[in-house]
Amino acid sequence: MKNSYKNLIYLLLAIFATWQAWELSRDNTNGAVSSTSKIASDVGIDILQQGGNAFDAIVATGFALAVTSPSNGNIGGGGFLVAHTADGKSVSLDFREKAPRLSYQQMFLNENGDYDRTVALESHKSSGVPGTVNGLLKILNDYGSGKLTLEEILAPAIHYAENGFIVNTTTAYSFNAYRDQFGKDDGTKKIFIKENEWTNGDVIVQKDLAKTLRLIAQFGNKGFYEGETADLIVEEMNKNGGLITKQDLLDYDSVYRAPVVGTYKDHTIISMGPPSSGGALVIQMLNTLENFDLKSMKRNSTEFVHLLTETQRLAYADRATHLGDPDFWNNPIEMLTSKEYAKERLTLISMNTATPSSEIAHGTWKDKESVETTHYSVMDKKGNVAGITTTLNLSYGNKKVVDGAGFLLNNEMDDFSSKPGVGNAFGLIGFDANAIQPFKRPLSSMTPTIVLNSNNEAILTVGAAGGARIITAVLQILVSILDHGLEIDEAIDTPRTHSQWLPDQIFYEKESLSKKTIQELKELNHTLEPAKYSIARSHGIQLKNGKFITGSDKRGSRDGNQASTY
Ligand code: DON
Repeated sequence: MKNSYKNLIYLLLAIFATWQAWELSRDNTNGAVSSTSKIASDVGIDILQQGGNAFDAIVATGFALAVTSPSNGNIGGGGFLVAHTADGKSVSLDFREKAPRLSYQQMFLNENGDYDRTVALESHKSSGVPGTVNGLLKILNDYGSGKLTLEEILAPAIHYAENGFIVNTTTAYSFNAYRDQFGKDDGTKKIFIKENEWTNGDVIVQKDLAKTLRLIAQFGNKGFYEGETADLIVEEMNKNGGLITKQDLLDYDSVYRAPVVGTYKDHTIISMGPPSSGGALVIQMLNTLENFDLKSMKRNSTEFVHLLTETQRLAYADRATHLGDPDFWNNPIEMLTSKEYAKERLTLISMNTATPSSEIAHGTWKDKESVETTHYSVMDKKGNVAGITTTLNLSYGNKKVVDGAGFLLNNEMDDFSSKPGVGNAFGLIGFDANAIQPFKRPLSSMTPTIVLNSNNEAILTVGAAGGARIITAVLQILVSILDHGLEIDEAIDTPRTHSQWLPDQIFYEKESLSKKTIQELKELNHTLEPAKYSIARSHGIQLKNGKFITGSDKRGSRDGNQASTY
């Protein structure tokens, strides 16, 4: 009896010692990288450990994602950076794709004047001029520590492309799911289809991509927008009716834009302005919600979801009319993000009944195709925070690889409003503000966001993938953290709802609403629809009591948390 008592104590001591060693080894106070790929997150941590800052790390992670996360991590697409530097500067960089000079407003309408979804999403015409390489190189040049060379930053990505990386369950599943679509394009087929189905543990080698990355390491921007890679992109376009020309590639340049900034209670919210609608809408919706006592409302209660839906309805109605590329359209950001405007719009919300969305024509909600964007972020010990959301638009973009260059092309041109009032792939409608024009950037929903506390210290970076659902997901995560006191991982896990003015519906994740809440919302005249796929997928980092906590959405991942800390 005595001996077994002793043994139990030894066992408990051993467990305690192991736990302590584990805790110390992942002290979590030095830095964190959150992304959809563990390999890419570890690349970022490695750069931090070599003395790089958050900007060096996010660029290295971004290029690694181009290899290890082909459905969304990309050099054939574009995105946005929102950052806050250790010395207190807020930065946003727009490296969104641009419409080629040969594009025109009706390019996705057929002879009957109807929007042709297949051309808009699956043809070479669907590609905008890629911005990612230009954007990542600019971030490194302007904000990197200068301690690491471009070659050093790109070395891990080149290594994984050249020698291969081990495919996880999520990636294998995704490759298999898209097998038929990959088969339609010779370049894509060569890389992403193998004789048998993909399984967890297989290795994928991408030699052409390695060559393209080496050209970037050697020649910087010119390694992509000029020379061999540019030739291959233009050849791919010319053979397949695409519009991107050599001059389009030469002209591409990413742009620093003023981030949109708002306050929510005693926090500062910094997010992406146009050509993304995300930041303006999140701040507008927070300004509305600030007038209510959210702390006393249970998350996903009838009262909460009703208020959220009415708030989203107003914001998305503004999105359709007011927002577009700031180089082409005057965006009323000051109005949309002002507390007064929120108060004025608030009068349209009744807590007793749903206000029907206007009766104008709306797009059909396309719930079939899975969607792919990715958000990744880095926080370092010095206080630098950088978050990037980047996309090819849908999963694997238009599923066309630039033959010989090894990367997939985006189908971002569908984010424009091809026909007034007709929904795009995300059911989002728009008008003149977001009509196609040469050199214009399509309106986005990507919402990389940073939160500062009342001492102006960055405490949170978060963003998401999921088209129109990104904005409402980020909003709900912010409310869960700032009002309901959840940590980022729980906040991301909490089931979500989504609505966007048109279609006039609340989409809900299965676990989000009880039968009783659904019934009560119906009694308030809401129409509800179970979401056929997840309401966005979010990643982020929170700094709490000196430790970095990572959030990595389990939606869409079969491999658990893909973030890394040290
Ligand atoms: O920029 C946008 O809003 C869309 N192209 C994003 C697409 C997206 O998030 C798909 N992903 N999961």
